[in-house]
Amino acid sequence: MTTLIINIKELLQVRDSTILKVSGKDMAILPSIKNAFLLIKDDLIADYGCMYELYDVIYDEKIDATGKIILPTWCDSHTHIVYAGNRELEFVDRIHGLSYEEIANRGGGILNSAKALQNTSEDELYEQSVKRVKEVIKLGTGALEIKSGYGLSVESELKMLRVIKRIKQDFTIAVKSTFLGAHAIPLEYKNNKQAYIDVIINDMLPKISSENLVDFIDVFCENGYFSLEDTEQILKVGSQYGFIPKIHVNQFNAFGGVALAVKHHALSVDHLEELNEDDIAALKNSSTMPVALPSCSYFLGIPYTPARKLIDADLPFALASDYNPGSAPSGNMNFVVSTACIKMKVTPEEAINAATINGAYAMGISKDYGSITIGKKANLIITKEIPSYYYLPYAFGDNHIDKVIINGKTVHY
Ligand code: NIG
Ligand code: FE
Repeated sequence: MTTLIINIKELLQVRDSTILKVSGKDMAILPSIKNAFLLIKDDLIADYGCMYELYDVIYDEKIDATGKIILPTWCDSHTHIVYAGNRELEFVDRIHGLSYEEIANRGGGILNSAKALQNTSEDELYEQSVKRVKEVIKLGTGALEIKSGYGLSVESELKMLRVIKRIKQDFTIAVKSTFLGAHAIPLEYKNNKQAYIDVIINDMLPKISSENLVDFIDVFCENGYFSLEDTEQILKVGSQYGFIPKIHVNQFNAFGGVALAVKHHALSVDHLEELNEDDIAALKNSSTMPVALPSCSYFLGIPYTPARKLIDADLPFALASDYNPGSAPSGNMNFVVSTACIKMKVTPEEAINAATINGAYAMGISKDYGSITIGKKANLIITKEIPSYYYLPYAFGDNHIDKVIINGKTVHY
């Protein structure tokens, strides 16, 4: 099947050769072609160029994109989109003055979601999650990382991971699966955290590996959750199974998690609302992608990741949604990009680079996703008629998407 798109007002994120990420000052550059065409063959980008360069093409479908902008779909490298129920009562508790930490300390938070998930069947969990996956695809997400971590028992972690596997099989977007057994300490292990870590290491990891359920391993490295020593124990065993780390670090406190992650060759370090000079130094000369989650900062009212500091240090960063029921109940990457511009003072070019090519890098898929490059997947957002791409983050409350194309096919949900 061949699709020709013509009269594209502007084709964004055009990269002639495959680059895997963009860093520092280069993040300010978003290469584009005005008045462009794009040719799709089956699931891949086959060609593109200026309209005046267009040659005779035999096609099955033609799309006229007059007045519209096309960009690669968002690559959301950090989500907890598989969960049961919601936590809107805790949201109201926070409005009344309780902190996220206080809610967690009284048995709410992640443990609350774990209880709901343990009481939900695999099929029901799949149905609830699939609704959200369809919503985010309609909002332009074409690659998605999904974490476990609301199971917190062997059986329930496996249930979550099997649901993620089904999503991987049933959708044509790219899906990457991350094991986050170390997300919180279950109540029954409150006074014996090591016993839970032993369950992770001795029971969960071997089963997950034998069922071939995950691509990555994650730990919530934070005071009150998992320490540096706990994190290191888990990552060491994870590496024996070949699981590359992507770690929750520096959400509330900076105490060396970034350096530890880099030491273990983490693909990404995520959150970084707190970031000090030692963290920046550890990231330099590493291949670890820093990932900012502005929807979480927005929702919890905590600091935003200092992306300008990362850029000034010649580092890259990616943007992701953190879609989860407790700290970011939204998977809208358009909002993420907009909030990054508004609150983190990154430019639209930097934000779009962060949410496309660098997001793809943070999932290990930037060879095939994240830019308009011949041979990459034809995963595209076609906007409505808008004055310029600045308008996307600027007019933050509206949906500017006309069409989403995944693997060369228009999405009809
Ligand atoms: O990334 N910080 C840890 N995990 C999630 C929140 C989980 C929850 O509150 O359910 C996050 O923000
Ligand atoms: Fe998270």
